[in-house]
Amino acid sequence: MKYAQIAGWGMYVPSTVITNDAFVRMGLDTSEDWITSRTGIEQRFLVGLDEATSDMAVKAGLHALSMAEMHGREIDLVIVATCTPDHVMPSTAAIVQNRLGADGAGALDINAACAGFVYALNMATGQIESGRATNVLVIGADELSIYLNWKDRNTCILFGDGAGAVILKASDEPGIMSSTMGSDGSGAGLLTIPGGGSRFRTNGNGRKPANSYLTMNGPQVFRWATQMMTSAAERVIASSSLKPEEIDLFIPHQANLRIIEATAKRLGLDPEKVFANVDRYGNTSAASIPIAICEALDQGLIHVGDNIVLTSFGAGLSWAAVAVRWTAPVPERRSPWVPFRQSLETRVAAVRSVLRRQQRRVGTVIDERLRRD
Ligand code: COA
Repeated sequence: MKYAQIAGWGMYVPSTVITNDAFVRMGLDTSEDWITSRTGIEQRFLVGLDEATSDMAVKAGLHALSMAEMHGREIDLVIVATCTPDHVMPSTAAIVQNRLGADGAGALDINAACAGFVYALNMATGQIESGRATNVLVIGADELSIYLNWKDRNTCILFGDGAGAVILKASDEPGIMSSTMGSDGSGAGLLTIPGGGSRFRTNGNGRKPANSYLTMNGPQVFRWATQMMTSAAERVIASSSLKPEEIDLFIPHQANLRIIEATAKRLGLDPEKVFANVDRYGNTSAASIPIAICEALDQGLIHVGDNIVLTSFGAGLSWAAVAVRWTAPVPERRSPWVPFRQSLETRVAAVRSVLRRQQRRVGTVIDERLRRD
């Protein structure tokens, strides 16, 4: 029996910081105090006009690869959890796979909105446990800011952009101890971006176009999230044969500090065992949990042998949880050669990608000539 262990991790957030007072200056009917007291959020990072989800995902993926001391070509599968892909097709994962030089890897996106990363972790674990993959790169990356209505005070204050990644590798020891996933599509309308898909078409072919803004019923999502995060966490704690007091760190989806605190209270966890960084990032959707993992590691809150519970919820409605035994030592410092080597590798991957495109073009021309002759 093979198990999946986290062997590397990395994160990336864009450089533009938006603090709560910016919303007041924008003329939104809100206040810094309202946002901080009702959500716990003090700032968030937003992408610029030319930064796509794959750009953030590649940067997080590179960090994760360097932590795991792996090359892109050692990866068997790239999964990108995102609800804000670069394109409807191809998948964002395919773009990431190419840019990381992960030549031997399959690639696919998963959309379970904010729960996507934990869903993806679950899928990756299944691939490793079944022996179909040895090393899987799992990335959560989202830029929900591009779908926000900046005049809607109920939603625009909540979200930020970012990406986080982990490398899962096969091992004889667990790792990922247990997991659960769930969905309740009866709540699909509670948190949605209606346009851009096949129900409402944006190019005028047939049905009327719909808006592509994120809309949400905040209070209903709030109530449901607290219940589901609690029950999902309880399920993975029980199926890992752990007692709640054996949990060393609880890392919930970072959407609202009040949801995090209410969930922790229901689980009976000490506040110091509950990780929160929603104050600095807002809700980064699928990136929230891997970013939190990276920060918890940076702050020395995770040690080898620790039991960690990850829980998330999001549009769908969907939810997922995972219990992890932490196994990877945190390196004191990275080799100075790693960034140099990685920059060389991504350049080589870019050149290879151009050469392949040229090769396909030349192949097509030759085929056509041969057909004509
Ligand atoms: N500034 C000032 N007032 C605001 C506001 C803002 N940014 N946003 C909403 N309000 C107002 C509402 O309009 C409402 O006014 P009214 O009473 O005159 O109608 C009042 O504040 C209370 O609104 P309500 O929605 O009941 O507040 P709340 O305590 O539930 O907080 C959320 C609102 C959105 C912060 C909260 O419901 C929440 O976080 N829900 C979960 C959302 C979430 O996590 N989504 C992502 C899931 S992955």
